[in-house]
Amino acid sequence: MIDALPVVLNINGLKYEFEVLPYRSLLDVLRDELGLTGTKECCAVGECGACTVHFDGRSINACLMLAIEADGGSVTTIEGIAPPGEMTRVQDAFLEHGAVQCGFCIPGMVMSAEYLLARNPHPTEEETREGLSGNLCRCGGYNRMLQAISSVSEESTP
Ligand code: FES
Ligand code: FES
Repeated sequence: MIDALPVVLNINGLKYEFEVLPYRSLLDVLRDELGLTGTKECCAVGECGACTVHFDGRSINACLMLAIEADGGSVTTIEGIAPPGEMTRVQDAFLEHGAVQCGFCIPGMVMSAEYLLARNPHPTEEETREGLSGNLCRCGGYNRMLQAISSVSEESTP
């Protein structure tokens, strides 16, 4: 019998305390225990980026981090990237440019785009491609995503 272990996390500005089995991933907890299903599960082995979240200032694949490894950390998910009922400029731009098809990859794409633009507000196309390189889109909507991110970059102050 494996015992659950206590974990404390700050998620989207709220403190969560819970117990979790040591083999459960951060993604499992977000989706199955806390109902934060905006973060998607696709490959579950770190290859698709659908589960991208921000953790202690880094962009990570939540499927690759055990929940117990995350203990004491701060997580931002797609639900917390903008105030309730609002969208970020990146989210708006994805809609404006028709970058959303089935939508399954989009939360992870947005999280990666936000991470990129927060550190490099004016990325070159090559830098944007590199920033999204860990995120796969089965619908192939990459060009419109690049256009959306470029539009946000052009709007921001030099
Ligand atoms: S579900 Fe985590 S990288 Fe694919
Ligand atoms: S929009 Fe369908 S997987 Fe990207």
